Amino acid sequence: MKLSKRRKWIPAGYISSGLLLATVMVTGCGAPDADFRANEAYLTLQENKVGELGTRRESIKQNIEDVLTGLYGTPDEPHLLSVDGLSDVVEIENLQIAAGPTGSIDEAGARRGLYREHCAHCHGITGDGRGPTAEFLNPYPRDYRLGVYKFKSTTGKMPPTRDDLKKTLVEGIPGTAMPSFRLLNGFELDALVDYVRYLSIRGETERALIDYAVELEDDQNVLWNIADEAQQTEAKEAVEEMVADVVAKYVAAHDNRIPVPAPPENWETAESIARGRELFAGPIANCIKCHGLTALGDGVVNDYDDWTKEFFDPNAPGGRETFAELYGSTHAVMKPRPIRPRNLRMNVFRGGRRPVDLYWRLANGIVGTPMPAVPIKAEDAPEEDPRLVSDDVWHIIAYVRNLPYEDISEPAPLPKYQRKRH
Ligand code: HEC
Ligand code: HEC
Repeated sequence: MKLSKRRKWIPAGYISSGLLLATVMVTGCGAPDADFRANEAYLTLQENKVGELGTRRESIKQNIEDVLTGLYGTPDEPHLLSVDGLSDVVEIENLQIAAGPTGSIDEAGARRGLYREHCAHCHGITGDGRGPTAEFLNPYPRDYRLGVYKFKSTTGKMPPTRDDLKKTLVEGIPGTAMPSFRLLNGFELDALVDYVRYLSIRGETERALIDYAVELEDDQNVLWNIADEAQQTEAKEAVEEMVADVVAKYVAAHDNRIPVPAPPENWETAESIARGRELFAGPIANCIKCHGLTALGDGVVNDYDDWTKEFFDPNAPGGRETFAELYGSTHAVMKPRPIRPRNLRMNVFRGGRRPVDLYWRLANGIVGTPMPAVPIKAEDAPEEDPRLVSDDVWHIIAYVRNLPYEDISEPAPLPKYQRKRH
């Protein structure tokens, strides 16, 4: 989606550190200044693609930091430029409540600092998933900077809606360290939802800036030089485009929700469960490939999620060396941990256990993980089209929901074409 070209800009340099200090309303006495952490790992990854940046690396880093501060402010004082759509997807009043040091209050005496109080020790101040507790957890806390979310009602890689994120905060993510924040007030949850979006949008912009910066010619090592009027126009337009592209997805998210047809009439009857069992092991859904014939999650178990694979792909040429470089020099990445297919007999569903949650999971897969979407055909598709129909998805759900009640010795029957191999 293209947004209108009319956007107002404040160049990064206007936000001098002196001005910032003067406007900071924070009263968290003695709290050390918090900074956003640069995405060193992604910069190194992109640098490896174009060749050594040498001395330019530091100036690129500094320049990106300046541009990002101009666009989004700091952890204590968030700020948003008036880019079309941005103020609809995140509200500055919400960001102000969520930002700031733990226990701080604003001029009117209202509490701030919610993100650092409740989230940062796992997700990190930057939202890079690298807070102090992170390395002890499995799965790791989410790195929001990729803008990729698992548990949502939107299609493909579209970001989650506000309601999706709110549900994640209210319910937590069962079976992981991510707790429920049910006890917070509605407005506090809204503030945190917007803050997560803000960190994602900032992180995605940073990635786009890195992509752009490493491609610049040697003599163009300043991405957005506010002192140079001529260059400013061109570079500014490029940055505008980047932000607009990121924001557009969030604007579109709500209108791109996964359609959920009603379940068939015989849903969750013995017949429906039996059909689900057959499909689970069948060639199209092929759930047994990863979840195993017993659904205990013991199929393909040596795979990784996208947050890990970006930096550690043991099968890619040089994959292990790249990881060793990132891990060894800057500690900019976490130790890779394989992602396990779920044991479906446990009755623990991270994205929620309502039928509709499971329908979303199957119809869209779990983005960022190996769990694929079930191939679903349109109602009017020809009979011979091998893909499944939505009724089939509901039968698979009936089977999955019944698994915890089932005797373990009742695995799905293998389809004929696979019987010999086992
Ligand atoms: C004790 C550690 C911990 C704390 C505290 C924590 N989280 Fe999480 N969070 C996690 C983990 C672990 C995951 C990843 C779960 C997974 O990948 O299945 C996660 C995932 C998420 C996700 C991604 C959901 C998705 O659909 O992919 C969001 C959003 C999130 N957390 C927001 C928050 C917010 C906001 C707070 C503070 C109010 C918070 N978390 C506090 C550990 C934590
Ligand atoms: C290529 C491997 C793969 C295939 C094929 C696969 N899954 Fe998964 N599945 C996974 C992985 C990995 C996870 C764990 C994702 C995570 O932890 O975030 C998962 C998680 C799940 C979950 C848990 C959702 C939640 O909210 O916790 C369900 C339910 C599920 N799969 C059902 C299925 C069904 C039904 C099929 C067949 C239609 C299927 N899977 C096919 C790999 C796979």
